[in-house]
Amino acid sequence: MFTSRIIGCGHCFPKKIVTNDDLAKIVDTNDEWIFSRTGIKERRIAGANESTASLGAEAAMMALRAAGERPEDVEAIILATTTPDHPMPATATKIQAMIGASRAFAFDVQAVCSGFIYALSIADGLIRGLGKRGSVLVIGAEVMSRVVDWKDRSTCVLFGDGAGAVLLKGSEERADGGRCGILSTHLFSDGTFYDSLFVDRESSAPEGRGAIESADRESSAPNNHGTIKMNGRTVFTIAIEKMTEVAALALAENSLSINDIDWLVVHQANKRIIDVVVERLGIYQVTERIDGRRHVAQAPSCTQRTAQAEQRIDEPANFRGLDTEKVIVTLESFANTGAATIPTTLSIAHNDGRLKAGDLILMVAMGGGFTWGAAVVRL
Ligand code: ACO
Repeated sequence: MFTSRIIGCGHCFPKKIVTNDDLAKIVDTNDEWIFSRTGIKERRIAGANESTASLGAEAAMMALRAAGERPEDVEAIILATTTPDHPMPATATKIQAMIGASRAFAFDVQAVCSGFIYALSIADGLIRGLGKRGSVLVIGAEVMSRVVDWKDRSTCVLFGDGAGAVLLKGSEERADGGRCGILSTHLFSDGTFYDSLFVDRESSAPEGRGAIESADRESSAPNNHGTIKMNGRTVFTIAIEKMTEVAALALAENSLSINDIDWLVVHQANKRIIDVVVERLGIYQVTERIDGRRHVAQAPSCTQRTAQAEQRIDEPANFRGLDTEKVIVTLESFANTGAATIPTTLSIAHNDGRLKAGDLILMVAMGGGFTWGAAVVRL
Protein backbone atom coordinates (compact mmCIF):
# COMPACT_ATOMS: atom_id res chain seq x y z
CA MET A 1 0.00 0.00 0.00
CA PHE A 2 1.17 3.52 -0.85
CA THR A 3 1.76 5.89 2.07
CA SER A 4 3.22 9.36 2.69
CA ARG A 5 6.29 9.57 4.88
CA ILE A 6 8.07 12.52 6.46
CA ILE A 7 11.59 12.45 5.00
CA GLY A 8 12.89 15.82 6.22
CA CYS A 9 12.12 18.58 8.73
CA GLY A 10 13.21 22.21 8.93
CA HIS A 11 12.56 25.35 10.92
CA CYS A 12 13.48 29.01 10.93
CA PHE A 13 12.93 31.73 13.51
CA PRO A 14 13.73 35.43 13.31
CA LYS A 15 16.91 36.41 15.15
CA LYS A 16 15.30 39.06 17.34
CA ILE A 17 14.38 37.76 20.80
CA VAL A 18 11.73 39.64 22.80
CA THR A 19 11.58 38.59 26.44
CA ASN A 20 8.71 39.02 28.87
CA ASP A 21 10.75 41.77 30.53
CA ASP A 22 10.99 43.54 27.17
CA LEU A 23 7.19 43.41 26.86
CA ALA A 24 6.83 44.82 30.37
CA LYS A 25 8.39 48.00 28.98
CA ILE A 26 5.58 48.51 26.44
CA VAL A 27 2.46 47.16 28.23
CA ASP A 28 1.44 46.81 31.88
CA THR A 29 2.59 43.23 32.45
CA ASN A 30 5.42 41.27 34.05
CA ASP A 31 7.37 38.05 33.60
CA GLU A 32 5.67 36.35 36.56
CA TRP A 33 2.14 36.93 35.17
CA ILE A 34 3.02 35.80 31.66
CA PHE A 35 5.07 32.74 32.64
CA SER A 36 2.68 31.47 35.31
CA ARG A 37 -0.37 31.71 33.02
CA THR A 38 1.18 30.65 29.72
CA GLY A 39 4.61 29.03 30.23
CA ILE A 40 6.11 31.58 27.81
CA LYS A 41 9.44 33.30 28.59
CA GLU A 42 10.33 34.80 25.24
CA ARG A 43 9.40 34.88 21.56
CA ARG A 44 11.06 35.71 18.23
CA ILE A 45 9.83 38.72 16.31
CA ALA A 46 10.39 39.28 12.58
CA GLY A 47 12.48 42.23 11.43
CA ALA A 48 11.61 44.51 8.52
CA ASN A 49 13.24 42.17 5.99
CA GLU A 50 11.60 39.01 7.30
CA SER A 51 8.17 37.75 6.27
CA THR A 52 6.05 34.62 6.22
CA ALA A 53 7.57 33.80 2.83
CA SER A 54 11.20 34.35 3.83
CA LEU A 55 10.87 32.34 7.05
CA GLY A 56 8.90 29.63 5.23
CA ALA A 57 11.49 29.42 2.45
CA GLU A 58 14.34 28.97 4.97
CA ALA A 59 12.43 26.24 6.79
CA ALA A 60 11.61 24.55 3.47
CA MET A 61 15.26 24.58 2.36
CA MET A 62 16.33 23.06 5.67
CA ALA A 63 13.76 20.26 5.22
CA LEU A 64 14.98 19.65 1.66
CA ARG A 65 18.62 19.54 2.77
CA ALA A 66 17.76 17.16 5.62
CA ALA A 67 16.06 14.84 3.13
CA GLY A 68 18.77 15.18 0.48
CA GLU A 69 16.15 16.31 -2.07
CA ARG A 70 16.31 19.06 -4.70
CA PRO A 71 13.79 21.94 -4.91
CA GLU A 72 13.14 21.15 -8.57
CA ASP A 73 11.85 17.70 -7.62
CA VAL A 74 9.14 19.11 -5.33
CA GLU A 75 5.71 18.38 -6.78
CA ALA A 76 3.56 20.54 -4.49
CA ILE A 77 3.97 23.22 -1.81
CA ILE A 78 1.20 23.68 0.73
CA LEU A 79 1.63 26.59 3.11
CA ALA A 80 -0.49 26.86 6.24
CA THR A 81 -0.61 30.47 7.34
CA THR A 82 -2.85 33.05 8.95
CA THR A 83 -0.47 35.84 8.04
CA PRO A 84 0.20 35.65 4.29
CA ASP A 85 2.57 38.25 2.86
CA HIS A 86 -0.36 39.60 0.80
CA PRO A 87 -4.08 38.73 0.60
CA MET A 88 -3.28 37.58 -2.95
CA PRO A 89 -1.54 35.72 -4.44
CA ALA A 90 -0.86 32.72 -2.24
CA THR A 91 2.36 33.16 -0.25
CA ALA A 92 3.19 29.54 -1.15
CA THR A 93 3.87 30.72 -4.71
CA LYS A 94 6.37 33.28 -3.39
CA ILE A 95 8.12 30.49 -1.47
CA GLN A 96 8.08 28.40 -4.66
CA ALA A 97 9.98 31.15 -6.49
CA MET A 98 12.37 31.78 -3.58
CA ILE A 99 13.47 28.15 -3.34
CA GLY A 100 13.36 27.41 -7.09
CA ALA A 101 10.76 24.64 -6.94
CA SER A 102 9.98 25.22 -10.60
CA ARG A 103 7.94 22.04 -11.19
CA ALA A 104 5.67 22.41 -8.14
CA PHE A 105 2.15 23.77 -7.80
CA ALA A 106 1.65 25.86 -4.69
CA PHE A 107 -1.23 27.15 -2.58
CA ASP A 108 -2.08 28.38 0.92
CA VAL A 109 -4.33 26.83 3.56
CA GLN A 110 -6.02 28.98 6.21
CA ALA A 111 -7.11 27.09 9.31
CA VAL A 112 -5.27 29.32 11.81
CA CYS A 113 -3.33 27.29 14.42
CA SER A 114 -4.67 23.96 13.07
CA GLY A 115 -3.44 24.88 9.60
CA PHE A 116 -0.44 22.57 9.59
CA ILE A 117 -2.59 19.51 10.42
CA TYR A 118 -5.03 20.54 7.67
CA ALA A 119 -2.16 20.99 5.19
CA LEU A 120 -0.63 17.66 6.19
CA SER A 121 -3.97 15.97 5.60
CA ILE A 122 -4.32 17.54 2.13
CA ALA A 123 -0.75 16.56 1.24
CA ASP A 124 -1.40 12.99 2.39
CA GLY A 125 -4.52 12.93 0.22
CA LEU A 126 -2.55 14.15 -2.81
CA ILE A 127 0.17 11.60 -2.31
CA ARG A 128 -2.08 8.64 -1.59
CA GLY A 129 -5.12 9.56 -3.67
CA LEU A 130 -3.25 10.66 -6.77
CA GLY A 131 -0.31 8.35 -6.28
CA LYS A 132 2.14 11.25 -6.41
CA ARG A 133 5.70 9.99 -6.51
CA GLY A 134 7.43 13.36 -6.09
CA SER A 135 7.90 15.14 -2.79
CA VAL A 136 5.41 17.54 -1.22
CA LEU A 137 6.48 20.40 1.04
CA VAL A 138 4.12 21.15 3.91
CA ILE A 139 4.98 24.42 5.62
CA GLY A 140 3.52 26.29 8.59
CA ALA A 141 4.77 29.89 8.67
CA GLU A 142 3.58 33.01 10.47
CA VAL A 143 4.47 36.55 11.38
CA MET A 144 1.84 36.81 14.12
CA SER A 145 3.59 39.97 15.34
CA ARG A 146 2.02 41.84 12.41
CA VAL A 147 -1.56 41.09 13.47
CA VAL A 148 -0.98 41.50 17.21
CA ASP A 149 -2.24 44.63 18.94
CA TRP A 150 0.91 45.71 20.77
CA LYS A 151 -1.19 47.82 23.14
CA ASP A 152 -3.33 44.85 24.26
CA ARG A 153 -1.52 43.06 27.09
CA SER A 154 -4.02 40.19 27.10
CA THR A 155 -2.99 39.03 23.60
CA CYS A 156 0.38 40.55 22.65
CA VAL A 157 2.24 38.43 25.20
CA LEU A 158 1.03 35.17 23.64
CA PHE A 159 2.39 35.18 20.10
CA GLY A 160 5.65 34.92 18.17
CA ASP A 161 6.94 34.48 14.61
CA GLY A 162 8.51 31.48 12.92
CA ALA A 163 8.24 28.75 10.31
CA GLY A 164 8.51 24.99 10.19
CA ALA A 165 8.40 22.57 7.27
CA VAL A 166 8.25 18.88 6.56
CA LEU A 167 8.99 17.16 3.27
CA LEU A 168 6.64 14.28 2.49
CA LYS A 169 7.24 11.58 -0.06
CA GLY A 170 5.15 8.70 -1.34
CA SER A 171 6.55 5.37 -0.35
CA GLU A 172 5.63 1.71 -0.25
CA GLU A 173 4.80 0.37 3.18
CA ARG A 174 7.49 -1.34 5.19
CA ALA A 175 8.45 -4.80 4.03
CA ASP A 176 7.72 -6.21 7.50
CA GLY A 177 4.07 -5.25 7.08
CA GLY A 178 4.16 -2.58 9.78
CA ARG A 179 2.48 0.66 8.81
CA CYS A 180 4.54 3.83 8.59
CA GLY A 181 4.10 7.40 7.38
CA ILE A 182 0.89 9.32 8.01
CA LEU A 183 -1.44 6.73 9.53
CA SER A 184 -4.46 9.02 9.82
CA THR A 185 -5.60 12.63 10.03
CA HIS A 186 -8.78 13.95 11.67
CA LEU A 187 -10.13 17.44 10.91
CA PHE A 188 -12.99 19.39 12.51
CA SER A 189 -14.34 22.92 12.75
CA ASP A 190 -17.19 24.78 14.41
CA GLY A 191 -17.88 28.21 12.95
CA THR A 192 -20.21 29.20 15.78
CA PHE A 193 -16.98 30.20 17.56
CA TYR A 194 -15.96 32.50 14.68
CA ASP A 195 -15.97 35.58 16.93
CA SER A 196 -14.00 34.02 19.78
CA LEU A 197 -10.66 34.51 18.06
CA PHE A 198 -10.36 36.69 14.99
CA VAL A 199 -8.53 39.53 13.29
CA ASP A 200 -10.86 42.52 13.17
CA ARG A 201 -10.38 43.48 9.55
CA GLU A 202 -13.75 43.55 7.81
CA SER A 203 -12.50 43.49 4.22
CA SER A 204 -15.16 41.13 2.85
CA ALA A 205 -17.66 40.77 5.69
CA PRO A 206 -21.17 40.93 4.13
CA GLU A 207 -22.51 43.00 7.01
CA GLY A 208 -19.77 45.54 6.34
CA ARG A 209 -19.78 48.35 3.82
CA GLY A 210 -19.60 48.05 0.05
CA ALA A 211 -16.31 47.76 -1.76
CA ILE A 212 -15.89 51.46 -2.54
CA GLU A 213 -16.78 52.62 0.97
CA SER A 214 -14.53 49.93 2.36
CA ALA A 215 -11.65 51.06 0.16
CA ASP A 216 -12.12 54.68 1.29
CA ARG A 217 -12.16 53.64 4.91
CA GLU A 218 -9.18 51.36 4.68
CA SER A 219 -6.97 53.78 2.82
CA SER A 220 -7.24 56.15 5.77
CA ALA A 221 -7.12 53.48 8.49
CA PRO A 222 -3.99 53.55 10.66
CA ASN A 223 -3.62 49.75 10.44
CA ASN A 224 -5.54 48.17 7.62
CA HIS A 225 -4.45 44.66 8.55
CA GLY A 226 -6.56 44.56 11.72
CA THR A 227 -5.42 42.99 14.98
CA ILE A 228 -6.22 39.87 16.99
CA LYS A 229 -9.28 39.92 19.23
CA MET A 230 -9.72 36.97 21.55
CA ASN A 231 -12.01 35.64 24.22
CA GLY A 232 -9.24 33.98 26.22
CA ARG A 233 -11.48 32.01 28.55
CA THR A 234 -13.48 30.48 25.69
CA VAL A 235 -10.31 29.59 23.80
CA PHE A 236 -8.88 28.00 26.93
CA THR A 237 -11.95 25.86 27.66
CA ILE A 238 -12.73 24.76 24.11
CA ALA A 239 -9.06 24.10 23.24
CA ILE A 240 -8.81 21.63 26.10
CA GLU A 241 -12.11 19.95 25.25
CA LYS A 242 -11.54 19.62 21.50
CA MET A 243 -7.86 18.68 21.58
CA THR A 244 -8.52 15.97 24.16
CA GLU A 245 -11.47 14.65 22.13
CA VAL A 246 -9.65 14.56 18.81
CA ALA A 247 -6.53 13.00 20.35
CA ALA A 248 -8.65 10.22 21.85
CA LEU A 249 -10.44 9.74 18.51
CA ALA A 250 -7.15 9.54 16.59
CA LEU A 251 -5.85 6.90 18.99
CA ALA A 252 -9.08 4.88 18.87
CA GLU A 253 -9.24 4.91 15.06
CA ASN A 254 -5.74 3.42 14.93
CA SER A 255 -6.47 0.91 17.70
CA LEU A 256 -3.79 2.59 19.79
CA SER A 257 -3.66 3.60 23.44
CA ILE A 258 -1.74 6.59 24.73
CA ASN A 259 0.86 4.05 25.92
CA ASP A 260 1.77 3.27 22.32
CA ILE A 261 2.71 6.86 21.50
CA ASP A 262 6.39 7.84 21.57
CA TRP A 263 5.84 11.59 21.28
CA LEU A 264 2.93 13.95 21.77
CA VAL A 265 3.19 17.22 19.84
CA VAL A 266 0.39 19.55 20.92
CA HIS A 267 -0.14 23.01 19.45
CA GLN A 268 2.08 25.35 21.48
CA ALA A 269 -0.40 27.99 22.63
CA ASN A 270 -0.25 27.75 26.37
CA LYS A 271 1.49 25.38 28.79
CA ARG A 272 -1.58 25.24 31.02
CA ILE A 273 -3.71 24.04 28.09
CA ILE A 274 -1.10 21.40 27.23
CA ASP A 275 -0.92 20.26 30.87
CA VAL A 276 -4.67 19.72 31.14
CA VAL A 277 -4.86 17.88 27.79
CA VAL A 278 -1.97 15.70 28.91
CA GLU A 279 -3.65 14.98 32.24
CA ARG A 280 -6.96 14.11 30.58
CA LEU A 281 -5.25 11.79 28.13
CA GLY A 282 -3.81 9.90 31.08
CA ILE A 283 -0.19 10.76 30.72
CA TYR A 284 2.14 10.08 33.60
CA GLN A 285 4.26 12.68 35.35
CA VAL A 286 7.59 11.03 36.13
CA THR A 287 9.23 13.20 38.75
CA GLU A 288 12.40 11.32 39.55
CA ARG A 289 14.42 8.30 38.59
CA ILE A 290 16.19 6.39 41.31
CA ASP A 291 18.18 3.25 40.47
CA GLY A 292 16.46 3.17 37.10
CA ARG A 293 13.01 3.11 38.74
CA ARG A 294 10.40 5.56 37.55
CA HIS A 295 8.37 7.29 40.24
CA VAL A 296 4.93 8.39 39.17
CA ALA A 297 3.55 11.53 40.76
CA GLN A 298 0.45 12.17 38.73
CA ALA A 299 -1.79 9.20 38.13
CA PRO A 300 -3.62 9.00 34.83
CA SER A 301 -7.05 10.51 35.12
CA CYS A 302 -9.11 8.88 32.44
CA THR A 303 -7.53 5.99 30.62
CA GLN A 304 -6.19 3.96 33.53
CA ARG A 305 -6.98 3.63 37.17
CA THR A 306 -4.71 4.98 39.91
CA ALA A 307 -4.39 1.51 41.43
CA GLN A 308 -2.96 0.13 38.22
CA ALA A 309 -0.47 2.96 38.02
CA GLU A 310 0.67 2.41 41.59
CA GLN A 311 1.14 -1.26 40.90
CA ARG A 312 3.39 -0.38 38.01
CA ILE A 313 5.66 1.77 40.18
CA ASP A 314 6.84 -1.48 41.77
CA GLU A 315 7.34 -3.04 38.39
CA PRO A 316 9.53 -0.54 36.54
CA ALA A 317 10.53 -3.01 33.87
CA ASN A 318 6.89 -3.50 32.90
CA PHE A 319 5.83 0.09 33.32
CA ARG A 320 4.18 1.41 30.21
CA GLY A 321 2.67 4.80 29.68
CA LEU A 322 3.53 8.10 28.11
CA ASP A 323 5.38 10.21 30.64
CA THR A 324 5.54 13.97 30.33
CA GLU A 325 9.08 13.78 28.96
CA LYS A 326 7.37 12.54 25.79
CA VAL A 327 5.36 15.74 25.52
CA ILE A 328 7.49 18.09 23.47
CA VAL A 329 7.22 21.71 24.61
CA THR A 330 8.88 24.60 22.77
CA LEU A 331 6.60 27.51 23.67
CA GLU A 332 8.82 28.74 26.51
CA SER A 333 11.31 30.06 23.93
CA PHE A 334 9.06 30.70 20.92
CA ALA A 335 5.49 31.36 22.20
CA ASN A 336 2.50 30.68 19.95
CA THR A 337 3.60 30.79 16.32
CA GLY A 338 0.17 29.83 14.95
CA ALA A 339 0.32 27.24 12.18
CA ALA A 340 4.09 26.99 12.70
CA THR A 341 4.08 25.54 16.21
CA ILE A 342 3.76 21.89 15.23
CA PRO A 343 6.30 21.77 12.36
CA THR A 344 8.84 23.87 14.28
CA THR A 345 8.45 21.62 17.33
CA LEU A 346 8.89 18.52 15.15
CA SER A 347 12.00 19.96 13.53
CA ILE A 348 13.57 21.06 16.81
CA ALA A 349 13.00 17.63 18.36
CA HIS A 350 14.28 15.88 15.25
CA ASN A 351 17.41 17.99 15.20
CA ASP A 352 18.23 17.47 18.86
CA GLY A 353 17.95 13.71 18.37
CA ARG A 354 14.70 13.06 20.24
CA LEU A 355 12.67 11.96 17.21
CA LYS A 356 13.97 8.80 15.58
CA ALA A 357 12.97 6.57 12.68
CA GLY A 358 10.11 4.30 13.72
CA ASP A 359 8.78 6.65 16.43
CA LEU A 360 5.02 7.05 16.68
CA ILE A 361 3.88 10.68 16.99
CA LEU A 362 0.47 12.06 17.89
CA MET A 363 0.01 15.68 16.74
CA VAL A 364 -2.94 17.71 17.99
CA ALA A 365 -3.91 21.31 17.26
CA MET A 366 -6.69 23.80 17.73
CA GLY A 367 -7.12 27.28 16.31
CA GLY A 368 -9.45 30.12 15.42
CA GLY A 369 -12.68 29.24 13.67
CA PHE A 370 -12.64 27.14 15.76
CA THR A 371 -10.73 24.49 13.83
CA TRP A 372 -9.07 21.48 15.38
CA GLY A 373 -7.42 18.28 14.27
CA ALA A 374 -4.99 15.48 14.91
CA ALA A 375 -2.54 13.35 12.96
CA VAL A 376 -0.93 10.03 13.83
CA VAL A 377 2.42 9.58 12.12
CA ARG A 378 5.04 6.82 12.23
CA LEU A 379 8.44 8.28 11.28
N1 ACO B 1 -0.22 40.94 32.28
C1 ACO B 1 -0.82 41.27 33.43
N2 ACO B 1 -2.14 41.19 33.62
C2 ACO B 1 -2.90 40.78 32.59
C3 ACO B 1 -2.33 40.45 31.35
C4 ACO B 1 -0.95 40.54 31.21
N3 ACO B 1 -0.30 40.24 30.08
N4 ACO B 1 -3.32 40.07 30.52
C5 ACO B 1 -4.46 40.16 31.19
N5 ACO B 1 -4.21 40.60 32.44
C6 ACO B 1 -5.14 40.86 33.51
C7 ACO B 1 -6.54 41.11 33.02
O1 ACO B 1 -6.69 42.45 32.61
C8 ACO B 1 -7.35 40.79 34.25
O2 ACO B 1 -7.29 41.87 35.11
P1 ACO B 1 -8.61 42.32 35.94
O3 ACO B 1 -8.94 41.13 36.80
O4 ACO B 1 -8.13 43.52 36.69
O5 ACO B 1 -9.64 42.60 34.91
C9 ACO B 1 -6.54 39.66 34.90
O6 ACO B 1 -5.23 39.72 34.33
C10 ACO B 1 -7.13 38.30 34.67
O7 ACO B 1 -7.47 38.19 33.31
P2 ACO B 1 -8.06 36.88 32.75
O8 ACO B 1 -8.35 37.04 31.29
O9 ACO B 1 -9.15 36.41 33.66
O10 ACO B 1 -6.80 35.93 32.93
P3 ACO B 1 -6.75 34.36 32.76
O11 ACO B 1 -6.26 33.78 34.02
O12 ACO B 1 -7.99 33.82 32.13
O13 ACO B 1 -5.59 34.20 31.68
C11 ACO B 1 -5.13 33.92 29.37
C12 ACO B 1 -5.67 34.86 30.44
C13 ACO B 1 -3.68 33.58 29.66
C14 ACO B 1 -5.19 34.63 28.01
C15 ACO B 1 -6.00 32.65 29.35
O14 ACO B 1 -7.36 32.98 29.23
C16 ACO B 1 -5.61 31.72 28.28
O15 ACO B 1 -4.58 31.11 28.35
N6 ACO B 1 -6.46 31.56 27.24
C17 ACO B 1 -6.08 30.81 26.06
C18 ACO B 1 -5.62 31.82 25.08
C19 ACO B 1 -4.66 31.30 24.05
O16 ACO B 1 -3.87 30.41 24.27
N7 ACO B 1 -4.73 31.90 22.87
C20 ACO B 1 -3.84 31.58 21.83
C21 ACO B 1 -4.51 31.64 20.51
S1 ACO B 1 -5.68 30.35 20.36
C22 ACO B 1 -4.87 28.99 20.09
O17 ACO B 1 -3.76 28.99 19.66
C23 ACO B 1 -5.50 27.71 20.41
